[in-house]
Amino acid sequence: MTSLLVANIGELVTNSRALGDGSALGVCRDAALVVDSGRVSWVGPRADAPAADARLDVAGAAVLPGFVDSHSHLVFTGDRAREFSSRMSGRPYSAGGIQITVAATRNAPDDVLAANVARLVAEMVAQGTTTVEIKSGYGLTVPDEARCLAIARQFTPETTFLGAHVVPSEFADDPAGYVELVTGAMLTGAAPSAKWIDVFCEEGAFDADQAMAVLSAGKAAGLQPRVHANQLRHGPGVTVACEVGAASADHCTHLTDADVDNLRGAGVVATLLPGAEFSTRSAYPDARRLLEAGVAVALATDCNPGSSYTTSMPWCIALAVREMHMSVEEALWSATAGGAAALRRDDVGTLSIGSRADFTVLAAPSYVHLAYRPGVPLVAETYQRGQRIA
Ligand code: NIG
Ligand code: FE
Repeated sequence: MTSLLVANIGELVTNSRALGDGSALGVCRDAALVVDSGRVSWVGPRADAPAADARLDVAGAAVLPGFVDSHSHLVFTGDRAREFSSRMSGRPYSAGGIQITVAATRNAPDDVLAANVARLVAEMVAQGTTTVEIKSGYGLTVPDEARCLAIARQFTPETTFLGAHVVPSEFADDPAGYVELVTGAMLTGAAPSAKWIDVFCEEGAFDADQAMAVLSAGKAAGLQPRVHANQLRHGPGVTVACEVGAASADHCTHLTDADVDNLRGAGVVATLLPGAEFSTRSAYPDARRLLEAGVAVALATDCNPGSSYTTSMPWCIALAVREMHMSVEEALWSATAGGAAALRRDDVGTLSIGSRADFTVLAAPSYVHLAYRPGVPLVAETYQRGQRIA
């Protein structure tokens, strides 16, 4: 494999304190970076850059680690635009709309589902995402969950079994029977294509005992837990996530002080999904409280056809800054290194020596433009393992 010199970087974000200005973003100005065999092999002042087989001159642009979108639901078909527009006319969000996508997904052949995932992943990559987590959860039968995960696996190793998304209508009178199915045959079918197990722990979905049963069964099958927690109202999701040793508690919109302490104490990442609050017109999570308490925060899109139909990490950064009072630096860290922490990955989300060479070149001189110029397509190029993918 040939080496690549990325030359003339105006502002390089490494997420490594040791490499840059001493901040969490590890910013190096007037820098260069060398990629060898898909990994970062050298970072330093551009004047000292060594020779390499190939050269990419970014003409003073900002270069950032690729975004790590640690929460998405991409395996589905159809959309719920009408539900969105009626919400914008005053109807509240209810997780019940999930059943509509479940019906559409069950009826869709594999190639249709795979084409939809490919379309959404291409959108993500064009907007700078280089690592994505993809959940199942719109199949909710043994064969449909298995095939949704097999399709997700074609696109990423970060696949999550979310059979416990909601109780499907055919089990409306027997939720215990559905939990038995999820923890039994459905888990067996899903496990070969899944790394993670997730549960929507929320009133109207799964309670604490059911969530614990699902996550414990998943752990016993070799999957690692993560939880949809405290999205629509206060509930036991965060407690469950901390108790089970989840990598991440996602949403975290309604927290008590005890939840915040618990997240910090247990080292569980709080993954905030501001696209969901935007698209359901609800109050945003209190990011400042989490950050000031020392909880690690990740940002992700939650891309799904119901509550957050966006693939754009730059837009989530802009929302986090404007609506959740995160600094631009905090938001960028959360969308890169924070997402990597939520997936327990130490090879992505940073550009230090040995990191995977996943990076974006912005059509802008600074990462600040991501929030300063919201809605503008600022990602000029996306590289994964040193190869241009968009
Ligand atoms: O993360 N919270 C549960 N699941 C999704 C919503 C899915 C849907 O509405 O289709 C979420 O917001
Ligand atoms: Fe979600």
